[in-house]
Amino acid sequence: MLELRQLSKSYNGRPVLDRLSWQFQAGEFVSIMGDSGVGKSTLLNLIAGLDTPDAAPGESPIIVDGLPMSGLDDDAATRLRRTRMGFIFQAFHVLPHLTLLQNVALPLLLNGLPTARAAEMLAAVGLAGREHDFPHQISGGQMQRVAIARALVHRPALVLADEPTGNLDPDTADAILTLLQREIKATGACAIMVTHSQHAAKKTDKILLLERDGLKETTTVKPFAQ
Ligand SMILES: Nc1ncnc2c1ncn2[C@@H]1O[C@H](COP(=O)(O)OP(=O)(O)OP(=O)(O)O)[C@@H](O)[C@H]1O
Ligand SMILES: [Mg+2]
Repeated sequence: MLELRQLSKSYNGRPVLDRLSWQFQAGEFVSIMGDSGVGKSTLLNLIAGLDTPDAAPGESPIIVDGLPMSGLDDDAATRLRRTRMGFIFQAFHVLPHLTLLQNVALPLLLNGLPTARAAEMLAAVGLAGREHDFPHQISGGQMQRVAIARALVHRPALVLADEPTGNLDPDTADAILTLLQREIKATGACAIMVTHSQHAAKKTDKILLLERDGLKETTTVKPFAQ
């Protein structure tokens, strides 16, 4: 579903990611842990196509569904993002001038899909009855839940989440993780979640540790520097 082949990224000559290779499978819920500043968000941004990896011309270190990302022009990359990916990133804010329902329906509208599932997703994240509220009328944690509903509504094949439960209370965080799990199993999507929470990581199928020398699978999670 997603393959990283010798993925590298440096900023101003300072390497952050150095020749990472990994294969992510459809239907897999994977968490990525690691110390602050090690490059977790950088990795998700690269996979999302929001940043470009260091690569020689003609090389593509990121392959989604067999498609080399570096070979795509802007339109094709946008289409791939819109149809196949769902993002739960802090930077992808809920739009303030749209109601919660309109926010969640947006990926469906952009993909020309029926919008009925938007209300179902809002209910699934515990926001039934709040469809016609605007983002300024809800809390930060509720906003995060809207972002999660929006990321999953069009049944993306690849879900990328950066600390999706970071500002949620433990019960809500659990409910969100269960929802993510259920969606992944129901749709066969692959989800990659960056988290500092050992509790959240333990709910995933596989825990990857990002360190200076690359990605490795782990079963023992230790507390990380935040
Ligand atoms: N656009 C950028 N320009 C320059 N340096 C950057 C940029 N983005 C990230 N970095 C640097 O890359 C390194 C990795 O940052 P990144 O945000 O990926 O870490 P992280 O693992 O997500 O950390 P955290 O757990 O604190 O979110 C940091 O040293 C950061 O300063
Ligand atoms: Mg980060």
